[in-house]
Formats: sequence, C-alpha cells, structure tokens
Amino acid sequence: MIYTFDLSTKVIMITGGYGHLGVAISRSLIHHGATVYVLGRNRTNFDNAFRDEPELDKKLQFSNCDVASTASIQNAFKEVFKREGHIDVLINNAFYLQGQNPFEISDADWSTGIDGTLNSVFRATREVIPYLFKNKSGRIINVSSMYGVVAPDLSIYDDYPGMLNPPHYGVAKAGVGQLTKYYAGLLGKDGITVNAVAPGPFPSEKVQQKSGFIEKLAEKTCVGRIGKPEELAGIFVYLSSDASSYTTGQIIAVDGGWTAL
Ligand SMILES: NC(=O)c1ccc[n+]([C@@H]2O[C@H](COP(=O)([O-])OP(=O)(O)OC[C@H]3O[C@@H](n4cnc5c(N)ncnc54)[C@H](OP(=O)(O)O)[C@@H]3O)[C@@H](O)[C@H]2O)c1
Repeated sequence: MIYTFDLSTKVIMITGGYGHLGVAISRSLIHHGATVYVLGRNRTNFDNAFRDEPELDKKLQFSNCDVASTASIQNAFKEVFKREGHIDVLINNAFYLQGQNPFEISDADWSTGIDGTLNSVFRATREVIPYLFKNKSGRIINVSSMYGVVAPDLSIYDDYPGMLNPPHYGVAKAGVGQLTKYYAGLLGKDGITVNAVAPGPFPSEKVQQKSGFIEKLAEKTCVGRIGKPEELAGIFVYLSSDASSYTTGQIIAVDGGWTAL
C-alpha cells in the first residue's frame, strides 16, 4: 500500500485563497488533482488573482464568505456541500488585523485583530466539523506564523516608520497553535487530523519594494533569502493528502530556518 499525494478525490476549501499566499497554495492543490473552493469576500479579487489560467478550469471555484460572520461561514460551507456532496479539507488561511503601534493599540483594534486572526479560525473550525464527521475523515489546516512561535526582532523595522509587527498578531497566531493541538486531540479518533503551518518571511510584492528590508529578513534565515509563495504550497498538499494521515496536532514551520536560529 502506498499513501500518495494524489488529491483527485478531495474537495478543499481555503479561506482567503486569492491573497498573496493563498493563490500559490490553491494552484498547487489543483495541480495535485483537488477541487478547490476559494472562500472570500470579493469575487472580483478572485477573478483578478486567477485571470488567464484556463487550465484551472472547473477545479477552481469561488464561494462568497466573510470569516467575520458565523452565518456567512455556514452559508459558504452549506453551498460547497450541496454542490459537491462532501467536504474533505478546510484551510484556515484568511486573516484581518487592525492596530499597529504596540504602545497605542486601542481595545477595539486589539479585539478586531484577535477576531480576525484567531476567533475566525475557531468559528470556521467549529462549523466544518459536522461535515467532516459525515465522512469519518478530514483535514483542518490552520495557517499560523513564525510570530506565533517566536517574538519578532523589532530592530528590523527601525528604518521603516509605520511598518510594525504588532503584538496581537503573534498572540493570536500562538493561539491558533494551541487551538490546533486541542482539536487534534478531540478529533483524531474520528479520522480527522488538525495541523498548523507556520510560515516564515513571505513578504508581499509591495513590502518587497522597501529598500533594504528584504535583506534584513533574509539575514534572519538559514537559507539567506525570503520565501517564494510556491515554496510554501507543498506542505498544504502533504497535509491535505492521505500521506499525512499519521500527522496531527503539529505546528510545521516553513520559514527558511528562521525559528531554528
Ligand atoms: N505573507 C507572510 O509572510 C506570512 C507569514 C506568516 C504567516 N502568514 C499568514 O498567511 C496567511 C495568508 O497571508 P497573506 O500574506 O497571503 O495575506 P493576504 O495577501 O493579505 O491575504 C489574506 C486574505 O484574507 C482575506 N480576508 C481578509 N479578511 C477576510 C474576511 N473577513 N473574510 C474572508 N476573507 C478575508 C483577504 O481577502 P480580501 O481581499 O477580501 O481582504 C485575503 O485574500 C495569513 O493567515 C497570514 O497571517 C503570512
């Protein structure tokens, strides 16, 4: 018996799947045979992200979903289930955050950041479980961050006024790690695995324009460079596939070795 990376029977939902990392993850899952539903708030952003890629064809679908709203999450999952008859994998990738300056974050901004980075992952996890129970198998993959594992080196932001790495981001991402372990323990005997991926430095193209910033990030890694989104995608293929059936409750770093140093 060989457990493979073949995803051709899998229906995978990924929140925020048209964002910087989501596009590469979605493409890779489809390349390995999956049917992928990108769950997001903006159909136009989805169309623009995957424009001119006819090869993705019917394997790539959009479903309207605002992860800030339980009702919206429920509607999206219901729609996907109605269309496909099963849901196999949920990737909690979307996030939103407000407030940057650690000395001045308001109560409201703190709450919004925790909501968009942690509570939204909980909401979607709670809502997908009944669908995974129907299969007696399934995968939940949460996107955490290296900043949920280690604190940021704030000196790298010194020359970039306005660019900060606020505390509630890492706090919430650390919470995502614990949520992952909790649900792995709860659901493992039902054939459902729950893991987190902790990406390292994969700055957006806009951030990459900041002169000298990339070099500062690169120095913090073992491999001496920032990551390409395509280099993150493979772990999602593995975790979505049958090959990962004995991997659960883990926070897997894909960070060029940042957290090893
Ligand atoms: N890039 C990195 O270096 C890095 C490093 C570590 C961890 N991460 C994590 O990786 C994940 C993806 O990050 P990214 O860099 O790809 O960021 P991104 O480009 O900003 O993508 C975030 C996605 O989340 C969506 N989103 C925001 N609020 C939403 C809501 N209420 N409902 C549904 N979707 C919503 C956004 O869609 P809209 O267009 O609708 O806003 C967007 O598609 C995040 O969890 C992030 O924390 C990233």
